[in-house]
Amino acid sequence: MQIAILGRQPEFGLAELWAVGATHVQPLTPDTAEFDGPDLNINRLGSIKKLGTILFTTNRAKLQADLKKYAAKTLIPELTNTPERHKITLGVSAYSASITAKDAFNLGVIVKKSLKAKEISVRLVPNTTPDLSTAQSFHNGLSSNPYKIELLVITQGDRLTVAQMTGVQNPDAYAARDQARPKRDAFVGMLPPKLAQTMVNLALGPKNSTAQSQKSTNQNATNQNATSQHLVRLLDPFCGTGVILQEAYLSGCQIYGTDLSPKMVGYTRANLEWLMQKSVVAPALLEVADAQTHHWQPPIDAIASEIYLGSPLSAPPSFAKLQVLRKNAEELLQNFLTNLAPQITSDTRLCLAIPAWRQENGGFSRLNLDFLGHIEYNVEGKSRDLLYAREQQIVARDLIILVKNKE
Ligand SMILES: C[S@@+](CC[C@H](N)C(=O)[O-])C[C@H]1O[C@@H](n2cnc3c(N)ncnc32)[C@H](O)[C@@H]1O
Repeated sequence: MQIAILGRQPEFGLAELWAVGATHVQPLTPDTAEFDGPDLNINRLGSIKKLGTILFTTNRAKLQADLKKYAAKTLIPELTNTPERHKITLGVSAYSASITAKDAFNLGVIVKKSLKAKEISVRLVPNTTPDLSTAQSFHNGLSSNPYKIELLVITQGDRLTVAQMTGVQNPDAYAARDQARPKRDAFVGMLPPKLAQTMVNLALGPKNSTAQSQKSTNQNATNQNATSQHLVRLLDPFCGTGVILQEAYLSGCQIYGTDLSPKMVGYTRANLEWLMQKSVVAPALLEVADAQTHHWQPPIDAIASEIYLGSPLSAPPSFAKLQVLRKNAEELLQNFLTNLAPQITSDTRLCLAIPAWRQENGGFSRLNLDFLGHIEYNVEGKSRDLLYAREQQIVARDLIILVKNKE
């Protein structure tokens, strides 16, 4: 079994795990889950901070003894199976209300003492919090080689699960994809790359593995129209500055972006050129188009998109204004989906970010999706649990996953 440490909004991480083929997904604590399934690449998961492999489960009374046993039976043999001796970097992250930063560090001290007794020198990463931040784990190189180890300790009642971290998100790569790209636009909104990446995963669903395996082929491809070898192609019909397309490209998809605004199509092109460091003309297909009427070039295998969210707001809208905002967004969404339906095959999945507005009472006013049944889409499972809003943000992103009905 494996462990996932979920991001700021754990429900997104759980949805993402299911989408990428994890099975037996079981939340352990509000921000952790165990699962079975494929080896996942942490760099392609937007809403999961760390991954790990479970070493053992125990209880509080036996934790110290079991850590020593793990050091003696597993860690020391692994670290001494070659003649040269490496210095070990060790970190411990605890996910539990009852383990303090000091307690977590002291668990590391127990392992360190066992290793030192066998003349293996260890540097312990200091805990300022019970869990090491992704930046601390990443910058200490934890899990990057066998000599840089992070233990994850998760408490669930009396049961403790101890795992070894196998991957941690790279915060610098996300920051670069967000802030270093040449074209940004505050008015169309700044979709965070992590959220875009999760949307791509939710839209691909079972096609994730195909996209991943075609990644090298795609990125060496010189001809977008080489359909003799059909690659998973993801469409963003409201592509804006291209954040979703960037993430889809990195996940191995062929990418197809359209937007009503020629300026935005230009921004997407510039950002993709920057990302790919070469001409984008071949691997990306970009067009200026109204999503309510356009005929896209087939094939379209998956759609991930953030529809027009309306103007940014600094305070909750009045009742009258809210009615106008909702009506405009519902009309745009309905027109787009009606236009798209005959152009895609049944079972094609869409992950859309649609607007929801914060109200004076702190709740959110969400779009009415009753019309979907009439235009051949089903809302998948629990997808209306995925509301993404930063504190104080008035216009939230409500993620919906739609699946085109069978004919
Ligand atoms: C919320 S932004 C998308 C931002 C995008 N996710 C990004 O990464 O920058 C919505 C986009 O929809 C475009 N748009 C608005 N109405 C449209 C329509 N009818 N058809 C296509 N695009 C439209 C706008 O030009 C804008 O770029």
